[in-house]
Amino acid sequence: MKKLLPLMKKYWVYAFFSPIFMILEVIGDILIPYLMSLIVDVGIANQNTGYITKMGCYMILTALLAMAFGVSSSFFGARAGYGFASEIRQKTFERIQSFTFANLDRFSVSSLVTRLTNDCNTIGMVTMMSLRMAIRAPFMLIFALIMAFRINSYLARVFLVAIPVLAVIVAAVLFKARPLFLQMQKRVDRVNAVIKENLAAIRVVKSFNRQDFEEAKFKERNDSLMNTALKAISTIIILMPAFSLIVYSTIIAVLWFGGFQITAGNMGGGELISFITYNTQILMALMMVSFYFMQLLRGSASVNRIIEVLDTEPEIKEKRNPVRTIKDGSITFKNVSFRYPGSREKTLKNINFEIASGETLGIIGSTGSSKTTLVQLIPRLYDVSEGSVLVGGIDVRDYDLKFLRDNVAFVLQNNTLFSGTIRENVKWGDENASDEEIIAALNKAQAWEFVSAYPDGLDHIVEQGGDNFSGGQKQRLCIARALLKSPKIIILDDSTSAVDMATDAKIQNAFKTELSDVTTIIIAQRISSIKHADRIIVMHEGEIESIGNHEVLLEKSPIYSEIFETQQKGMISA
Ligand SMILES: Nc1ncnc2c1ncn2[C@@H]1O[C@H](COP(=O)(O)OP(=O)(O)OP(=O)(O)O)[C@@H](O)[C@H]1O
Ligand SMILES: [Mg+2]
Repeated sequence: MKKLLPLMKKYWVYAFFSPIFMILEVIGDILIPYLMSLIVDVGIANQNTGYITKMGCYMILTALLAMAFGVSSSFFGARAGYGFASEIRQKTFERIQSFTFANLDRFSVSSLVTRLTNDCNTIGMVTMMSLRMAIRAPFMLIFALIMAFRINSYLARVFLVAIPVLAVIVAAVLFKARPLFLQMQKRVDRVNAVIKENLAAIRVVKSFNRQDFEEAKFKERNDSLMNTALKAISTIIILMPAFSLIVYSTIIAVLWFGGFQITAGNMGGGELISFITYNTQILMALMMVSFYFMQLLRGSASVNRIIEVLDTEPEIKEKRNPVRTIKDGSITFKNVSFRYPGSREKTLKNINFEIASGETLGIIGSTGSSKTTLVQLIPRLYDVSEGSVLVGGIDVRDYDLKFLRDNVAFVLQNNTLFSGTIRENVKWGDENASDEEIIAALNKAQAWEFVSAYPDGLDHIVEQGGDNFSGGQKQRLCIARALLKSPKIIILDDSTSAVDMATDAKIQNAFKTELSDVTTIIIAQRISSIKHADRIIVMHEGEIESIGNHEVLLEKSPIYSEIFETQQKGMISA
């Protein structure tokens, strides 16, 4: 909590005044029964109409003031609570943005979504309650007790019995309900996880006819959430009748013993009425305290889940005096090994190679042979476990991270577009790019042809995830987006897999003629995509099997020649 409190800074005025107004409201609530007892015992007893009217007016005035204070307290409390929550949400979101790929491997997206929504809301609500209920209940309890004892200390002894009994019942119920509520929160998480995963991949689910399976999975989790919720609720539901029972029992006791007190002349009728009101207020305050603790419990679970995100340090650290110039696009891997955080096996073993600036490097190898893992080390999406990766002769860890990534453009294997226009999407590469530059990039990526065919051209709408484009169109837009960065190095991870061979050849040609000074790395499944590369790396189970140009590899690499032959055969039979 200490960690989060500074985020309240902007809202401290609200956080300060909400409890103050609350206390004023409580004072009003306490005064009203007192004024009422005066009306009965003094006004009515002496048949003094003037006094009754005067006290009646005071009572109405106090009620109005108490109401105004109550509303202000609620308003301020809500401002403070939800303002606080929104600051936390912002901070958490920013932290997630700074996450590295390794951090993201640890948290699932659905759990991050739950943290940003449910948990932040809970914190906001509990903060609001802390400013109001947590203040109201104890003050109410103390003031009402004082008043009750002042009216009649003999009668007030009922509280010596009622309060402990209520406290024991409440404690017992909460003790039982606590684990259930914590469990309920976990179940909510599990439901959210299915929702997120299913909806994100709803098209895949449909194409595989997995609706029934997904529905069953959802039903199982949904039911288990409902059952836990029911269990939790039915545990605490006993509180309400228990509370009523105690309140009415004490009222009967007060009326019974109060009757004797009145007959003995120790107490007025009005005092008895107000005593009963204080009695209810006291017990109500106790209930409120217990309810508040319940919520506090939920809140603390949420706080922990938020802190967990905020405490996750991106383990890719920036150097103190980072390099912000780049000599050229040469790349060197020196004895590089890599292990994914949390996995035991090394994914890359002993990688050594060097490519000169402007060279084109092809990478091929069976699926899972660590091609993607290898190139991810160049823009520092992950850091090497051993050895070093140099770009332009300097260790990538010495560069300013943003600078490095601006110079190493990486078209991810499963790249995605964002909702907006084509122009907005391509501009991710360079915010200040002019339309001419955008069109030039689209041209090189062989995307201008289909973009210019739209009546609205660059303003054509991209739906979320780019779902309104074909796979190959999406890939070409992603390439254009990367080209707009005018990088020193460009990495295409299987980025033309969905593009037809002829267009693929055109893209390669454009790269060769117009981007001859840019170091290009092409990961591909098709030999035709990398055949003309200056050099080709053949990956096998995390190691370089061989390296050389097309002709050399046909000679010396059994894997390469096998891939070549299979693809040749495929060509001929097709
Ligand atoms: N984030 C990750 N955390 C843990 N292991 C991973 C992660 N990403 C990949 N791996 C593992 O590393 C190995 C290499 O994966 P990689 O994605 O580099 O293969 P690839 O050669 O690019 O395959 P493909 O041709 O299918 O794209 C695989 O065994 C994979 O399971
Ligand atoms: Mg891959």
